[in-house]
Amino acid sequence: MVTAVVNGIVVDECREYRASLILENGRIAAVLSPETDVRALYPDCDMVDAAGQYVVPGGVDGHVHFGGFGDIPIADDFYSGSKAALAGGTTTVVDFCEPGVGEDPLHCIAARKEAGRDAAVDFALHYTFTENWREELPRLDEILDEGIRNFKAYTYYPHTSLLPGDFRNIMESIHDKGTLLVHAEEKSIIDCMKEKYPADTSDMTALSLTRPNISEQIAVENVLAIAKETGTRLCIAHTSSRQTAEIRAREKAAGNENFILESCPHYMQFTIENMKGGEGALYTMNPPLRSQADADRLKEALVNEEIAILSTDHCPYSRRYKLGTNYMTVPCGVDGVQTRMMYAFSEGVIKGGLNMPAFVRMTSTNAAKFYGLYPRKGTIAPGSDADLAFFDPKAGEWTYGMEAVAGKTDYSIFEGFKLEGRCTCTIKGGRVVMKDGIVDVEKGSGAYIPVK
Ligand code: URP
Ligand code: ZN
Repeated sequence: MVTAVVNGIVVDECREYRASLILENGRIAAVLSPETDVRALYPDCDMVDAAGQYVVPGGVDGHVHFGGFGDIPIADDFYSGSKAALAGGTTTVVDFCEPGVGEDPLHCIAARKEAGRDAAVDFALHYTFTENWREELPRLDEILDEGIRNFKAYTYYPHTSLLPGDFRNIMESIHDKGTLLVHAEEKSIIDCMKEKYPADTSDMTALSLTRPNISEQIAVENVLAIAKETGTRLCIAHTSSRQTAEIRAREKAAGNENFILESCPHYMQFTIENMKGGEGALYTMNPPLRSQADADRLKEALVNEEIAILSTDHCPYSRRYKLGTNYMTVPCGVDGVQTRMMYAFSEGVIKGGLNMPAFVRMTSTNAAKFYGLYPRKGTIAPGSDADLAFFDPKAGEWTYGMEAVAGKTDYSIFEGFKLEGRCTCTIKGGRVVMKDGIVDVEKGSGAYIPVK
């Protein structure tokens, strides 16, 4: 079956132009000039009218946790998370294999691939080195054989807190194989700060105050120095502070192309103020929300592309797991996979002056390139997967509410947020899977994308 997308403004990572797209066998078969008589060439095709819409590559969210992170269940599994992703124009995600204590790396990878059989988006996997990295690193060839070339490591998290020496060993082994995504928060700073706050306080601002900007700054500088020494391509996960944006600006000025930043809309939109009061637990994630100055600087970094990859760290927990906890026990993580591209379109393109090719770069191309999925993902070209999203710049202002949520989260930090413009249609593998907010997709229709 051939599908033709006509009348739209096609946007890739370099330019925007009028064209008709021919989709066949899950791939983009041709990009035709808008004057081409598509019906004459493909008399039986399904015609999808994209008049008034930007047609962009399906989004690539480089950082999600569908179902698997720690012991407390995440609200979205691979299927419900896929539906949320598709509702917002994202057609590919990168999730994680993070071994439990003493778990064999291949056992963990097999379990994550098995869980991913329910996915309705395509997915790749990162491998997370744990404190057991001495047992894991010798298995590197086996991990690579599983189609995993992108790695993650934490400076601070239960059972995954690594020290600079650990990072150096890991980077020496992986620098010529793939990339490293780092959760950067200096543990010793946070441990000292925690001594100043009662462990049982339910005031969630303590989460932010015990994990200050300086902890991110020091951790970033440490791993960056080792990445430079070892020639490792480094991405800082969920950048939360203005200092990290400044470090990126410095490195860019020095010509360091091996160092990039990922950040998420919540760090640009919310602050420690949201963590105050009885529902503050609903705004908890690590690193935590910070000041208005940080949020403003990160939004600026979105528009000037100091943030290369806009991801979500989608890791939502139900209200019942969040509320009634204290700052030490609250499960950290929030939703975002559905709103990510619409946030960038509304706040970046419509209100912030971000141009459309830049929107494409930060929502799909850069992640696809960094994680080895390009040009299959992250662009619109013959041979690329037929994954597309339509964005309507004239949709006007609307309020994101729970009725729009396509996943299983029972709250969203974006509930009540006023967005401009809208994702009106998502095409995955040549098939319309979302139209005007209604997602129609089969469980298991997504595929694991091995990175070679
Ligand atoms: O709070 C968060 N971010 N939970 C997920 C863990 C991570 O850092 O990716
Ligand atoms: Zn995460």
